[in-house]
Amino acid sequence: MRVLITGGAGFIGSHLAQAYLQRGDEVYIIDNLSTGSLENINHLKENADYRKRLFVSIDTILNRDIMVELVGTCDVVHHLAAAVGVRYILDHPMESINTNIQGTEKVLELCNKFKKRLLIASTSEVYGKHLHAPLVETDNIIYGPSSKFRWSYAASKLMDEFMSLAYFRTTGLQVTAVRLFNTVGPRQTGTYGMVIPRFVSQALKNEPLTVYGDGRQTRTFTDVEDVVWALMRLIENDQAFGEVFNIGGTEEITILDLASRIVAASNSSSEIKRIPYDEVFGKDFEDMQRRVPSIEKLRALIGFNPKTPLDAILSKVIRFTSKRTNGI
Ligand SMILES: NC(=O)c1ccc[n+]([C@@H]2O[C@H](COP(=O)([O-])OP(=O)(O)OC[C@H]3O[C@@H](n4cnc5c(N)ncnc54)[C@H](O)[C@@H]3O)[C@@H](O)[C@H]2O)c1
Repeated sequence: MRVLITGGAGFIGSHLAQAYLQRGDEVYIIDNLSTGSLENINHLKENADYRKRLFVSIDTILNRDIMVELVGTCDVVHHLAAAVGVRYILDHPMESINTNIQGTEKVLELCNKFKKRLLIASTSEVYGKHLHAPLVETDNIIYGPSSKFRWSYAASKLMDEFMSLAYFRTTGLQVTAVRLFNTVGPRQTGTYGMVIPRFVSQALKNEPLTVYGDGRQTRTFTDVEDVVWALMRLIENDQAFGEVFNIGGTEEITILDLASRIVAASNSSSEIKRIPYDEVFGKDFEDMQRRVPSIEKLRALIGFNPKTPLDAILSKVIRFTSKRTNGI
């Protein structure tokens, strides 16, 4: 099978590419390296077997000519390219909206034109400011005002879901949207606000772990390999088309407890320091207090049951980061 992965040089995309190459498929990647990097896929290019089946285009999904060629060539498309990360969205508001709306529009239009199966990466952020758990795909959505720019990411991804469902309903496009909850693992960067890689780097340098807000906000974390497993099964499942699925873990933890666990697991002498949100993100920021998915819909369709507990995920990330820091 020929698989196109937009954003394939990013964190999740590089793991997905690896899984398809391991399975024997051909993988086509398009990535503009805005938050991704060639370092994420160099090990794939260096593998003698994978190299023959891996084709990488460094370009933007907004380039229609190249997207026509790539979508036309491939059998299925995983659309992961997006402006990602709270820090990145706040620093690049216009570019983020363009990528996440116009880019997805292009991918949908071309998958429809060439009749290709498509999976679109949405996000748990679309739920907004709920306090209840677990979050079910049919729940209402609660956002803050448009002056608080973090919601532009959620709103743009929600628009991606609406466009996908509209294509499915009007043209029968075989498209599925997934709401990814915090996905973690080796190769994720902490540069744009992702909490685990940021804490792990701080802990390994024995620097203070900087918890934003009071640290009582909770999250769940899923190993990227569990997520990749689900993405590969969903895109091949006819029952998934025209549907939206949560993909996430169920082990809820406060950010303060997460910081303590990382300090302990990395034998660090770091202290934990709380910093008010406005010192980090400016006054127009608000956070979500809680984000726990219901995974019943996904479990019922493909038997999804995330296998990797948080402690094992943390060990993997700590091992990876300390090797990379020491240049091994
Ligand atoms: N990691 C998570 O916890 C998480 C949670 C929710 C949703 N998601 C979604 O999953 C997808 C992948 O995220 P990730 O965590 O791997 O982040 P990532 O930043 O590592 O991956 C995104 C990739 O898209 C590329 N990209 C951005 N704009 C592009 C453009 N215009 N043209 C081509 N490439 C472009 C980036 O360079 C990057 O490699 C994104 O759509 C994101 O919104 C991720």
